[in-house]
Amino acid sequence: MNNPTSSSRQTSRLKIAMVLFAGFLISLPLAGFARDGQGESDKYGRTSVMEETIISLPEATFRGIILEEALQQRRSVRKYSSREMTLSELGQLLFSGQGVTETIHGRQLRTAPSAGATYPMRLYAAVNNVEGLPNGIYLYAPASHSLKLVEQGDFGTPLMAACLGQEYLKTADAVLIITAIPERISHTYGDRSMFYIYMEAGHIAQNILLQAVSLGLGGVPVGAFQDRKVNTLLPIEAGKEQTIYLIPLGTL
Ligand SMILES: Cc1cc2nc3c(=O)[nH]c(=O)nc-3n(C[C@H](O)[C@H](O)[C@H](O)COP(=O)(O)O)c2cc1C
Repeated sequence: MNNPTSSSRQTSRLKIAMVLFAGFLISLPLAGFARDGQGESDKYGRTSVMEETIISLPEATFRGIILEEALQQRRSVRKYSSREMTLSELGQLLFSGQGVTETIHGRQLRTAPSAGATYPMRLYAAVNNVEGLPNGIYLYAPASHSLKLVEQGDFGTPLMAACLGQEYLKTADAVLIITAIPERISHTYGDRSMFYIYMEAGHIAQNILLQAVSLGLGGVPVGAFQDRKVNTLLPIEAGKEQTIYLIPLGTL
């Protein structure tokens, strides 16, 4: 027979076990938290070029128009001027998509929300006409607000071909490419992971498009593309990472 003291001890033990278990569950999605900080690591055995060429971006301190004006003015823009995009503008666009805004208990939170803070998304820039930056494909590193060179070269023509001949993929000053690494989120969210990935891509894309308006730039979200053709231009290991959305951006 249970006496009241042993029953209250059992209840206390049960409460402690529940708290510990809840803590464990909460920590699961945060396990890979800083991955994009140090995280464009060569987890997939990627090229040494990425480690060698790192471009620090100017601090993202731009203050532009108010949100309501940006919302009012946003339109898909597919024609751009010949003026080069500045490195500051590119940095601000990348920051709006995936920049680190706050560190809480050692955890880096970003401009765009992420399911369970799993951060499965990556942001690449295919640079075509940016002041002082050699053309090529770069990976954005949120933690250091920097770019890592993936491959130098002109990617406008293959990007246009991969996007069913849409010419602004070639004429844009930079094309931001949003990809996802599903395994970062699937441990936690299983079958819902791909839904969350598409939702996160929407958050990131809208941040970038509104930021472009505020900077006086133009951009358009592009969903019509051949996945495999875009993937082959990126340092993607088949089945591990995939292209979700592209955003050509340019000066007006
Ligand atoms: C998921 C999605 C995919 C899109 N794909 C393309 C595309 O491949 N090419 C393009 O020129 N515009 C694309 N757009 C832009 C739409 O054509 C555009 O948002 C729509 O015409 C409304 O115009 P607005 O953006 O100026 O408001 C896409 C928009 C969304 C939301």
